Amino acid sequence: MYTLNFDLPTFLAQHWHKKPIVIKNAFIDFVDPITPDELAGLAMESDIDSRFINNKQGRWSVTHGPLSEDFFTSLEESHWQLVVQACNHWHSGSATLLDPFKQLPQWLFDDLMVCFSAPRGGVGPHIDQYDVFIVQGSGQRHWKVGARDQGQYKESIQAGALRQIEGFDPIIDQVLEPGDLLYIPPGFPHEGDTLEPSMSYSIGFRSPKQQELLNHFADYIIGNDLGDAHLINPDMAVRSNHGEISTLDKEQLTLMLKSLLDSPAHIDQVIGTLLSQSRHQLDHVEIEHAIEEDALEEHLKAGGYIYKMAGLKVLYHQDNLREVYINGECIACDDPELTLTLSNRDAISIEAIEINPSNLRLLTQLLQRGFWYFDA
Ligand code: SIN
Ligand code: CO
Repeated sequence: MYTLNFDLPTFLAQHWHKKPIVIKNAFIDFVDPITPDELAGLAMESDIDSRFINNKQGRWSVTHGPLSEDFFTSLEESHWQLVVQACNHWHSGSATLLDPFKQLPQWLFDDLMVCFSAPRGGVGPHIDQYDVFIVQGSGQRHWKVGARDQGQYKESIQAGALRQIEGFDPIIDQVLEPGDLLYIPPGFPHEGDTLEPSMSYSIGFRSPKQQELLNHFADYIIGNDLGDAHLINPDMAVRSNHGEISTLDKEQLTLMLKSLLDSPAHIDQVIGTLLSQSRHQLDHVEIEHAIEEDALEEHLKAGGYIYKMAGLKVLYHQDNLREVYINGECIACDDPELTLTLSNRDAISIEAIEINPSNLRLLTQLLQRGFWYFDA
């Protein structure tokens, strides 16, 4: 079990979206949740997003996965890094590293990226638009972080589309050892160099952009055939200036735009469906046989559990517990307690839910869709 050896509320008040920090011994007696071999195994899977970055003799190259077994048998001693995204979707042990971070909202969480780095390996100096907690596992890496980007850094696209910057003056310059943590807010340039073979874990959080909210809102409006109404102005008067959009015209059109945004029910849907979408592929298995409600009832009554698919985002609005947002869909749920259980827990047993026909129906549908699954 992973527990944080620092006070998260104090960290949030002093650092979140404000400034980077290294926390030495953020985890006591840190043990890697995944081995380099297991990581290489994930990088061989076609459903899993991975890349291999080489920087031999200062020449950067990126090879995207899936990587072959042969690829791994001919590796050099140094100057490379293997990166696997969303390991929490595919490797249950690595997902347990996220447990202490569940005090932060699920809707902000993006993924757990795991890196194995050979000496001198890294991805070079760059800027992310993510909040990241980089936990150092075995090995040592030397990290530098610069001041917040205010347009002073020059970007250069390296071979293989590595987004790098030319360099920066460090405000943090420190070696991370097992159990240490580096937090970097969006917009701070950083670079990790590897001193000895290393496992590192990047727990990424991503705040939505205004553009994305508006884009999703527009998709929702069009998809639901809303706002299909022209401006009506029975008070139209003659104009002396043919080319003018009057201030009143503009106000009326602005009102048309705002009135769509003024519907709380639509906003609930737009925000719930947007934030519950995972940005990384899920380990989704199609269920071919029919799942019976009776079988589920029996399973739960016998003390069995059902489990949420790893990485599935399940959310609700604090002021509406009768709708649950799952993987971009809004699903009605009659029982507010069930909404809370589905959203806040990874495993469900009979203690956490009331067995009744409507709950059994909904749970059976979720099992049938592959969103939850029976004990392995
Ligand atoms: C790395 O571990 O070198 C890449 C992680 C990052 O910079 O976000
Ligand atoms: Co980065």
